[in-house]
Amino acid sequence: MSTSPIQFAYWVPNVSGGLVVSKIEQRTHWDIDYNRKLAQIAERAGFAYALSQIRFTAGYGAEYQHESVSFSHALLAATERLKVIAAVLPGPWNPALLAKQIATIDQLTGGRIAVNIVSGWFKGEFTAIGEPWLEHDERYRRSEEFIRALKGIWTTDGFSFAGDFYRFRDYTLRPKPLQKPHPEIFQGGSSRAARDMAARVSDWYFTNGNTPEGIQAQVDDIRAKAAVYGHKVKIGVNAFIIARDTEAEARAVLQEIIDKADPEAVNAFGDAVKQAGKASPEGEGNWAKSSFEDLVQYNDGFRTNLIGTPEQIAERIVALKAVGVDLVLAGFLHFQEEVAYFGEKVLPLVRALEARGETIPQAVTA
Ligand SMILES: Cc1cc2nc3c(=O)[nH]c(=O)nc-3n(C[C@H](O)[C@H](O)[C@H](O)COP(=O)(O)O)c2cc1C
Repeated sequence: MSTSPIQFAYWVPNVSGGLVVSKIEQRTHWDIDYNRKLAQIAERAGFAYALSQIRFTAGYGAEYQHESVSFSHALLAATERLKVIAAVLPGPWNPALLAKQIATIDQLTGGRIAVNIVSGWFKGEFTAIGEPWLEHDERYRRSEEFIRALKGIWTTDGFSFAGDFYRFRDYTLRPKPLQKPHPEIFQGGSSRAARDMAARVSDWYFTNGNTPEGIQAQVDDIRAKAAVYGHKVKIGVNAFIIARDTEAEARAVLQEIIDKADPEAVNAFGDAVKQAGKASPEGEGNWAKSSFEDLVQYNDGFRTNLIGTPEQIAERIVALKAVGVDLVLAGFLHFQEEVAYFGEKVLPLVRALEARGETIPQAVTA
C-alpha cells in the first residue's frame, strides 16, 4: 500500500449527456463556462487532476463532444494548481503532433498537462473519420509505440525510432516540456494487452470500476510484470460517486438513474464495447463482465460502490488504497454541487482515516 495520500481526479464533462446513459435530470453541462467553474471548484475541493474525454462520434446520448487537448488547455488557463489529463487516440493523432502540442501547453501552463492514451473501443467512430480499425491487440501494439515515441521525443535530442507504425529520424523537439522527465502518461483499459502495456511503458494505469478483489487481481498482475522491466506503475480506478447524508438517499439516486436508463442507448453502447473486446483473446477487457446496469455508467463506475454516506465512502476509498489504488477517478450526477460536497464531507474523512493508518478492507463489500 502506498504511504502517499490517495489522489482524486474527476471526469471532465466535455461531452453532452453527463456520465450516465440515463434520462434522469442532470445539472451537468458540457459547455466551457460550466467546466471552467467546475475546475475551480474541484481545485479548491482538493482534486489533484481532471480527465477530459476524447470522442469523435458517440451514440449513447453523448451527442456533442468538445476536443480533449484544446478543452484541457482552456481548463488549465482557468485554474492554478489542477493538472488536466487530455485523452488522446493513436490513429487520429500521431506522436509528433501530440508531443509538440503537449510540450507547448506544458510551457504555457507551468507544467500541468498530462495525457491519457486510449486505444479505442468504437469501430463506427473510426470508420466515420476514415481511420483503419485495428484488431484489439494491434491497437495496443500501436499505442505502445506511440508512448515510446512520445517519451523519446520529450526526453532526447536527435531522436530516431523505427517502428511498425511510427518512424523518426534524428528529430529534436524544442522547447521540450517543462515537466521532467516528461508530462505524466496515463492509459485506459484492463485487458491483458492493456496490462502488459502499462507494465512496460505507462506511468499510470486507469481501469473501469470494479470490486476491490477485481482491482487487486489487476494490480498484482501489473506490478509483478512491471517489476520484470524495472518499471513502476500507479493505479487509478473509476467510480461513480453518489454521496448523500443518508445511505437510503444515495441508493434511491442510483435506483432512479437505472430506472430512467435509456435502454436503446445502453444496448447500442453495450454492442459496441463487446465488439471492441471480442478480439481481446483472453476475454478480460474492460466490459467483459458488465451487466446492463453496469453499462448505464459507461466505465462501470457503480461497481466500485462509492455510493452511500460520506463515512461509508471514505472507508471504502481507504480500503481501495489498501489493495494498491493510488487514485480514484470520480464521476458525479450533478458535478459542481457534488464535487464541492465531496471536498467538504468525504475528503477530510479520507485524510483522517489515512492519518490513523486505517484500512478496513471488509467495509468495501456491499
Ligand atoms: C478511465 C478511462 C478513460 C477512458 N477514456 C476514453 C476516451 O476518452 N475515449 C475513448 O475512446 N476511450 C476511452 N477509454 C477506453 C479505452 O481506451 C479502451 O478502449 C477500453 O478501456 C477497452 O479496453 P480493453 O478492451 O483493453 O479493456 C477509457 C478507458 C478508461 C478505463
